[in-house]
Amino acid sequence: MRLVLEGGISVANMGEKISNIRELELNSDAMRELIQQAMERIVEHIESLPTQPVSDVTEGAELARSVVEPMPEEGVAFSDLLELLFGRLVPKTYNTASPGYLAYIPGGGLFHAAIADLIADSINRYVGVWMAAPALAQLEANVLRWFAEMIGYPSSARGLLTTGGSLANFTALVTARRDRLPENFLSAVLYASDQSHYSVIKAALMAGFPERNLHEVPVDGQFRIRIGALRERIASDRAAGLRPFLIVASAGTTNTGAVDNLEALANVAREEDLWLHVDAAYGGFFMLTERGRNMMRGIERADSVTLDPHKALFLPYGTGSLLVRDGEALRRAHSVHADYMPPMQDNPDLVDFCQFSPELSRDFRGLRVWLPFKMHGAEAFRNSLDEKLDLAAWVTEELRRIPGMEIVAEPQLSLVAFRLVRDGLNPGELNEINRRLLDRINIRQRVFLTATTLSGIFVLRICILSFRTHLDRMEAAMEDIHAALKEL
Ligand SMILES: Cc1ncc(COP(=O)(O)O)c(C=O)c1O
Repeated sequence: MRLVLEGGISVANMGEKISNIRELELNSDAMRELIQQAMERIVEHIESLPTQPVSDVTEGAELARSVVEPMPEEGVAFSDLLELLFGRLVPKTYNTASPGYLAYIPGGGLFHAAIADLIADSINRYVGVWMAAPALAQLEANVLRWFAEMIGYPSSARGLLTTGGSLANFTALVTARRDRLPENFLSAVLYASDQSHYSVIKAALMAGFPERNLHEVPVDGQFRIRIGALRERIASDRAAGLRPFLIVASAGTTNTGAVDNLEALANVAREEDLWLHVDAAYGGFFMLTERGRNMMRGIERADSVTLDPHKALFLPYGTGSLLVRDGEALRRAHSVHADYMPPMQDNPDLVDFCQFSPELSRDFRGLRVWLPFKMHGAEAFRNSLDEKLDLAAWVTEELRRIPGMEIVAEPQLSLVAFRLVRDGLNPGELNEINRRLLDRINIRQRVFLTATTLSGIFVLRICILSFRTHLDRMEAAMEDIHAALKEL
């Protein structure tokens, strides 16, 4: 009897049918051709960044709708796809790689990291388990060790690279919860200021805490947690039978770049036996500079620290990190066993990242950090970050010279918040005039600024953080601000 499979193919002629399906494997010429074609578009794109508009999303919805399509059955020429991307889609965006992008928290996107990704994705090795790629996992562990040493953590600290600061904050809260709290943790209280990044709220909710357990602590005139108010809040919560558990401090808030008094918060955490987490997603890598180290004194006493390489290490989006001072706490929170997994390492120097992270299979993101550091050394990053601090100080002085310009938040790092004040206008009218000022600045397309509100006051922000932003672009920013003011 002949065995006939579904679809009518007999086992005898099945081999012939299967063996022909190889079109997804590219030959050497095809690979070179793809890289060559992509490279031409990429280089042209990067070289023209300084003259490209810094943001253009006009008719974005129409464009987005125009690319909706069912799963394609037929292939399309690579050159046509490149043209679609670089010719039509990429230009209609916020140009986050531009030297004029001074919005939110920039970073730029080091090209070296793109090459690292190309290598990492081409070799497609598995770094979540030490045994599967021992020396590659070690490169990633090295990167985390460099970060830990930079902030002054002991050698027992451990960490992980995440996709961003939000996931790092989430992992920190889960680690702290599992380390410090019983299974029923619903009376535990977390403290953060209203200047904390909203990922902290998300993290707390995802970690299972009800929103009412997140207690907001007021800030001082420099947008830093008021230590006295925090102590009072903790005392009244204890008196009410709640369980104070964790403080989230900021080392560089998104609104104004404020750095909390980390020494004082570390003292409170020690005295009250609380976990101190520092969200240093924006500010943390300024620890490479002397001024940054002075601002963030005490960070080494935190239990955990979020750092975002895709911000102040200038990496492309997709790389965050979390460091935990007691590395064992991080491991205990994430290690589970399964029979199909290879053996995990007993030696604490050999890191199985899946034991320290919510993730198992993932990209080899350590290479993205390792490569530019190895190629340039830390000095290049330090110098660039020092330049950002200088530029922020420079632009603040230039703004201060403008009659009626109020510096609402002096730069503690590389972010300044400001607004125009005119006599005789009520708060609503002042907000409106500042909204118009922002529009008039951005419409020139040389810089892109964003705004925020501080106690109901609309303020403009300049955040200087891209490795591509230098004095010439800040001079252009000032020219545009002056021109916009004239038009108001
Ligand atoms: C202070 C701060 N924390 C956390 C985050 C969240 O990081 P991510 O966007 O990488 O998830 C941000 C993002 O801007 C931030 O500024």
